[in-house]
Amino acid sequence: MQRERISRLAHTHHPVAAPLDDESVRRLLERGLRDGDEHVLDLGCGGGEWLLRALVAHPKLQAVGVDTSERALAHARHTAETLGVADRLVLHHADAADFTSTQPFDLVLSVGAAHAFGGLLPTLAAARKHLAPGGRILVGDGFWERDPSPDAVEMLGEYADLPTTIDHVIADGWVPVYGHVSTRHELDDYEWNWTGSLAEWALDHPDDPDSPQALATSAAHRDGWLRVYREAFGFVCLVLRPTSD
Ligand SMILES: C[S@@+](CC[C@H](N)C(=O)[O-])C[C@H]1O[C@@H](n2cnc3c(N)ncnc32)[C@H](O)[C@@H]1O
Repeated sequence: MQRERISRLAHTHHPVAAPLDDESVRRLLERGLRDGDEHVLDLGCGGGEWLLRALVAHPKLQAVGVDTSERALAHARHTAETLGVADRLVLHHADAADFTSTQPFDLVLSVGAAHAFGGLLPTLAAARKHLAPGGRILVGDGFWERDPSPDAVEMLGEYADLPTTIDHVIADGWVPVYGHVSTRHELDDYEWNWTGSLAEWALDHPDDPDSPQALATSAAHRDGWLRVYREAFGFVCLVLRPTSD
């Protein structure tokens, strides 16, 4: 079963592929945007949920999304057409680390995609290249809420704790002008939706050849979450301005 199909099914009831509820996404976008006529870039946009919400809320906003998943981009394109915002959305099937554009952006987003760049600071370096004077970055990444077990590090990768993460960002030349730490409810809700939507699809499609694997993947993911990383993993989104333009 293709990873992209698993991801699409797992996000059926939680289209934002990160542990944030709708109100948190709305608030973060509002703090990243000022006038509503911005050019916005999302590096690792997935199904485009952040851009779609910004486009619907701001009729003069223009958006560009970059992702390596054709399936996710097709979903974003289809939703944009349904919402009537497709004429203001450009999608690129490309590696976000290699993406170049002559257009500078007022807001550069990258949420849950830092692995595409090799970590948080390389993500900020990539985003900085696209930033217009006076622009902002909205970045979302993991951190360790508690000391992780070796298994948790192996499963999710290397992170710092929250204060150290913020120290690194500031030392890299950024000022946090807003932030949101995902709540216990947001973290759990994301995982219950991920595992539950995949399991439900498997039960509803017993004749699909992917059904047994979908059920097994859901169970393995739930087990890893509950036994290995639930107590240690946190997620933070930051709205950042460069210390100097
Ligand atoms: C956890 S999802 C987050 C999606 C979106 N930012 C959101 O919050 O809903 C990570 C996304 O990064 C994309 N991705 C992974 N590696 C990438 C790369 N090298 N270039 C562009 N996108 C990449 C994946 O296809 C996936 O859509």
